[in-house]
Amino acid sequence: MSLEYSHLISNNRKWAESKKDSNPDYFNTLSLRQQPNFLYIGCSDSRMPLDTYTSTEPGELFVHRNIANQVSVTDINLLSVLDYAVNVLRVKHIIVCGHYDCGGIRAAYQNSAAGLVGNWISPIRDLAIEFQSELDKIEDENQRLNRLSELNVIRQTENLMKTYVIQDALQKCTGCFEIHAWVLDLSTGLINELDIRDIK
Ligand code: CO
Repeated sequence: MSLEYSHLISNNRKWAESKKDSNPDYFNTLSLRQQPNFLYIGCSDSRMPLDTYTSTEPGELFVHRNIANQVSVTDINLLSVLDYAVNVLRVKHIIVCGHYDCGGIRAAYQNSAAGLVGNWISPIRDLAIEFQSELDKIEDENQRLNRLSELNVIRQTENLMKTYVIQDALQKCTGCFEIHAWVLDLSTGLINELDIRDIK
C-alpha cells in the first residue's frame, strides 16, 4: 500500500472538485471558522486517521497525535492543544484513542526501542511493570499487548485528569465536556469504548 507522491496532488484536485460539485459553498464555509465538538488524542500510526473510521469531515475533529497516544503533563505541545480545545473551541468530548497492534506498545513491552522513541514510550514500560501480574496471566502475547493498549489508554485519561487545564475547567463547569477512552481494533475497523467511569 505505498502511494506515489504525485498521487497525493492529483487525488487532492479530484477530492476538492467533487466536494465543490456536491456543495458549491463547501470551501467558503470551511474557511470561515472551525467549531469542532471533539478533541482526538491518538497514536501517530498511519492506520489511525480517526476521521475515516468515524466518517467525520474537516472541521469536526481537533487533533493531537503522538507515538502511542501519550498524555504527558510536561508536554507543552499537548497542553497547548488541550488548552485551546477546552478554553477556546469549547469541545464537548475529549477522546483518547489508542489501538490494538500498536508498534509503540509492542516496543515498550519488549523494550526494543532505542533513542528518543525509547525514551518517549518509557511510561508504557513502567505501566507494563505495574500491571505485570495481570498481563502475565494472558498466555497469548498479542492479547497481552492488546490489554496493555487498553491499560495505556486508561492511564492516559488519568493523566489528562491531572492536567491544570482539565482541573480548572472542571471547577468552572462540571459536565461541559466528557472524556472517553477508546481502542480501535485495526482487524475489524471497530472502536472499543472502555469504561472509565471510576476515574477522577
Ligand atoms: Co500505535
